[in-house]
Amino acid sequence: MRLVLLGPPGSGKGTQATRLKEYLQVPHISTGDLLRAEVAAGSPLGLQAKEVMARGELVSDAILLGMLEDRFSRDDTRAGFILDGYPRNLAQADALGKLLEKLGQKFDSAVQLEVPTELLVERIAGRAAAEGRADDNPESVRKRLQVYTDQTAPVIEYYRQHGELTVVDGVGSLDEVFSRIVEAIAPEKVVG
Ligand code: AP5
Repeated sequence: MRLVLLGPPGSGKGTQATRLKEYLQVPHISTGDLLRAEVAAGSPLGLQAKEVMARGELVSDAILLGMLEDRFSRDDTRAGFILDGYPRNLAQADALGKLLEKLGQKFDSAVQLEVPTELLVERIAGRAAAEGRADDNPESVRKRLQVYTDQTAPVIEYYRQHGELTVVDGVGSLDEVFSRIVEAIAPEKVVG
């Protein structure tokens, strides 16, 4: 199964991808996690990305594509993947299409998690208190939501027009949202 998870900050992409990874037995590729690992390692790429991420802006398309090509060169992605955090603009959607074409792969579905903005803000505030992620402060969150509206929302339309979009209600318990996703993408795998 090859999935792209779309949704604004706090919509539950990472949370649900962690569960889907176990369920579908395919790797979870989070571009946010890959970038945070570079920042934590203090690599040249991490140093470049750190301030951009803290401001809630997008890291350059070239850096992201390089990271993605590198990750997709690993054998474990042949059986499938859950891509979380990419693509975030139309240029990235185009780059992903070309990369998968080169690899002879095609993803099954782009799943959009729909969650109202006030709930996104509430969830991120909860995580800010619990974990203190550098970009979970109110100013960066506002910027991330704006970037999502301006640059990532068109990606949803792009996949809708290609007939590849599946919209899932992201409001509810973790189990409820997970069941909705599984039912939408792989109803034959739903047990019980
Ligand atoms: P990234 O790490 O991708 O962050 P994001 O998109 O802002 O997403 P979040 O991690 O905030 O939310 P999520 O949807 O994964 O929700 P989560 O499951 O964590 O990117 C960070 C930065 O990296 C970007 O701003 C950018 O700078 C850079 N970057 C990354 N990819 C890039 C790209 N492709 N191009 C350029 N730059 C890129 O849940 C959030 C919280 O809600 C958690 O506390 C969770 O426990 C809680 N929660 C989840 N589901 C529920 C539920 N159903 N009920 C109650 N609480 C819930």
